[in-house]
Formats: sequence, structure tokens, C-alpha cells
Amino acid sequence: MRKRVLTTFSGIVIFLCTGIVFTQANDAVAWNEAERASISRLSIHALGESPELKVNRVAKDAKAAELGHHLFFDTRLSINGKVACASCHLPEKYFTDGRKTAKGINSVNRNAPTVVGINHSNWLFLDGRTDSLWSQAMQPLENEHEHGTNRSHVVHVVYKDKKLHQLYEASFGAMPDLLNKARFPEQAGPVKDRAASYAWQNMKKSDQEIITGIFVNLAKAIAAYELKLNPSPARFDHFAQALEKNEAKAAEILNKQERAGLKLFLNKGKCNICHNGPMFSDFSFHNIATPQLNAKKYDWGRYKGVNKLLRSKFNCRSQYNDDPEKNCDEIKYIIRKREHTIGLFRTPSLRNITKTAPYMHAGQYKTLKEVIDHYVDPPKTLVGTSDLIPFPIDLTKQEKQQLEAFLGTLDSDIDAAQKWLTSPH
Ligand code: HEC
Ligand code: HEC
Repeated sequence: MRKRVLTTFSGIVIFLCTGIVFTQANDAVAWNEAERASISRLSIHALGESPELKVNRVAKDAKAAELGHHLFFDTRLSINGKVACASCHLPEKYFTDGRKTAKGINSVNRNAPTVVGINHSNWLFLDGRTDSLWSQAMQPLENEHEHGTNRSHVVHVVYKDKKLHQLYEASFGAMPDLLNKARFPEQAGPVKDRAASYAWQNMKKSDQEIITGIFVNLAKAIAAYELKLNPSPARFDHFAQALEKNEAKAAEILNKQERAGLKLFLNKGKCNICHNGPMFSDFSFHNIATPQLNAKKYDWGRYKGVNKLLRSKFNCRSQYNDDPEKNCDEIKYIIRKREHTIGLFRTPSLRNITKTAPYMHAGQYKTLKEVIDHYVDPPKTLVGTSDLIPFPIDLTKQEKQQLEAFLGTLDSDIDAAQKWLTSPH
């Protein structure tokens, strides 16, 4: 009799304990259908193919990626022999530089974004002034603030380097003979530097095309390397996967504070209006009234980006786009109206966001706390119209902390073999 009471008693204790564990794990953060749908859309497992694969014939070519890897770390491609892509996109800083605004040959007025996972965006640069990963890669080389050099210089470096020359030919076929310096000067390109620009104008058009063709191929090889750099699944993604099968199990993956932060991200915070999709970005453009870096010289963002893209010889419509169909709807339907494009910047990905401070297009904010405060109390925009119309959002101090804790669940490694994450030299 006594024994039976004891068993019943311990049964109740076990029941109560599991009950407590169960409620603690869930602590009233249950997920409704709409939230579950949003969560699965944010999961990295929903990531599709990179748009680069269509427009770049060497996107998946191993030798091209190897060549691109070398070029990414090669300081010889700069005018002073000191700047490489990796000077501003450092692997140990998740391919950013930790600076407010970047510095190459000179200072740049924007913050260096990461290149990890950016191959999933249709628009490159924060104002989307290029529409492929390969055409993006050409610009820093000829930009007077970054590598400060010119296409002929870059092509000659590869031509003269035995290893790079071989890698080039393995992917693109024989390189033309460039030994005739009268036809192919070492410094020439459509750049600001007067001597190089003059030399370029004096070249025959057909010779210019030879140099440009090789330069474009080198940019495509760099893109092939960048395609290797993607984020691995983060704790959030494991949570999203588990949630589809077992809510209690999922709750073990994110703690209470992080789950509350996710709720805020989806609901009260309205963050996933723009930070949606598997990269936590709609890869579209918004004016969120970020303070201007320079009170005298405003950054007009997308407004200038649209004009630059349409003028570019290397946009989707160009002869160098490897997609035979050249489906350029994005250009066809591009929003040109001045008043709709002023002060817009592309929504950044939030994956591994804890590793890429400072934040915003010119590193205006040092911490995630400052970014969240921006959304709670957005400043008046100085150019254009702010998209944060349904804001400000009213978050308590605790809610802000929860939101920040959630952002930390997007941390993960880079999903690439170690060799791609260090210099090959
Ligand atoms: C001086 C520093 C610097 C150097 C050198 C540099 N970058 Fe960047 N990179 C930046 C900055 C700053 C931006 C953003 C500029 C903008 O949006 O106007 C950027 C943007 C990018 C982007 C687009 C990212 C996005 O979110 O759209 C890619 C990709 C990229 N760089 C790759 C490269 C490659 C490849 C090289 C070498 C060929 C290179 N960068 C050299 C600073 C640098
Ligand atoms: C209307 C669209 C929109 C909404 C809503 C929005 N963001 Fe953003 N977010 C952006 C854009 C655009 C930027 C880049 C602005 C810039 O560079 O000036 C940005 C930047 C950020 C950054 C800095 C990223 C970086 O790499 O510099 C973080 C962090 C961020 N947002 C988090 C949030 C959170 C958290 C919420 C919800 C409270 C939110 N965002 C709501 C569009 C939005």
C-alpha cells in the first residue's frame, strides 16, 4: 500500500517535472502559421542558385576560381603595389576591414561590405551600380581611390606571371601576344590618370578590345573565387529546420531571449519587411534616413547608382554577358524616377552581422545597439523620403536586448575550404 502511494507520488513528481521542463522550454513562445512561414523563408536552406551562374561562363570553373583567388590577394594589381582586394575585404574580419570607411590608394566614402554570400544579390555595391559579380570586380581596380590602376596594367601583370598566365589559359584559352608595347602599352585604360588615359585613347579600337576582353575574363575569374564564399548554416537555421518537425526540440536551439528577439524581428520590429529571404535581405533599395557622413556632400545612393548602371558598358545588356538570352528585365523595369531613388541603399544581409561593425553605408554606427536605436527613433532624412514611415517602433530596453540577442543567432562560419580563406601567396 505504502509502496503504491510512493509510486503514484513519484509519478506525479515526474509528471510535474516534465511539465515544468516543457513549459520552460517553450515559455509561451509558440509560433503561429504566419511566423512559421516567415521563418522557413529566412532559413538558409531556402537559398537558390546565384544569379552569377547564368551570366559568367567560368562561374563554376575550378581553375578560374584559383586564378581569382590569386588575383584577390595580389597587391601587384595596384598602382603602388600595396593594395589588394583583401586589403579591404580581410578574411579574418569576415571579408570586411573594420573601418568606418574604406581606404586604398585614397579614402573611399563608403564602408567596405563583406563579399561572403553577396553572389546571391542581383545588385552589387550599396547603390547597385553593377548588376553582376564579375562587372563589380572590374571597378575597384580602375578606381583612383582603391587599386588606382588601369586594365592594361592588370592584364600585363597576369601576362608576365608564369603561373597566372597558365591558369588564365586553362580557363579562357590562349592569351594573345602582348609583347608589342607600341600596340599594348603597360599603363592604359579609360581612367582618371592622364597618362594612362592618353595612352588608351591612342590605341587602336581593336587592340583596346583585346585588353578589355582579357580584363573582363580576369574579373569573371575573381567572381568565380567569390562564389566560393558563402555562410554556413547558423544556429537560427538549425532552429528553423527543427521547428518544422518538433517545436520543443527547436526551443532547445535558441534560448528564451533569442526566441523573443525573433518574435520581435518578425512582428513588432517589422525588420523582415526588408531583411527577408535566406540572406536576410530583399536585395532591394530603401531610404532608411541613415545620417549623412558628410554634411556638405550628401550620398545620394541609388539615384546615382541607377545612372551609372545604365551608362555602363558592362551591364546585363553588354556583349560580355555570357547569358545568350540576356534576360535584362531588371534594367528594362528599373525605377528611374529621381524622387523614388534618392537616398536609397541596398538592404544589407544580416548573416554574421556581429562580425562586421561598424554599420551602415558609411559606418555611421559602431554597434548593433546603435543600429537598433536608429529604428526605434529614426532621424529625419536629409535626402529623399524615408521608407521608415510605419516607424518609429516602440521597443523597451529589454526588447532591444532581445532583438540584438536574436541577431547573434545568425553567426556561422564561412562554408568554404580553409585554402580559400587565406592568401595563396
Ligand atoms: C579600398 C578598399 C577596397 C578595395 C581595395 C576593394 N574593395 Fe570591394 N568594396 C569596398 C567598398 C567601400 C565597397 C562598397 C562601395 C560602394 O558601395 O560604393 C566595396 C564593395 C564590394 C563588393 C560589393 C559588395 C556588396 O555588398 O554589394 C564586392 C563584391 C567587392 N567589393 C569585391 C571587391 C574585389 C573583388 C576587389 C578587388 C578587385 C575589391 N572589392 C577591392 C572597398 C574595397
Ligand atoms: C525599410 C526597410 C528596412 C527595415 C524595415 C529594416 N531595415 Fe535594417 N537596413 C535597411 C537598409 C536599407 C540598411 C542599410 C542602410 C544604409 O546603409 O544606410 C539597413 C541596415 C541595417 C543594419 C546594418 C547592416 C550593415 O551591414 O551595416 C542592421 C543591423 C539592420 N539594418 C537591422 C535591422 C533591424 C533589427 C530591423 C528591425 C528593427 C531593421 N533592420 C529594419 C533596410 C531596412
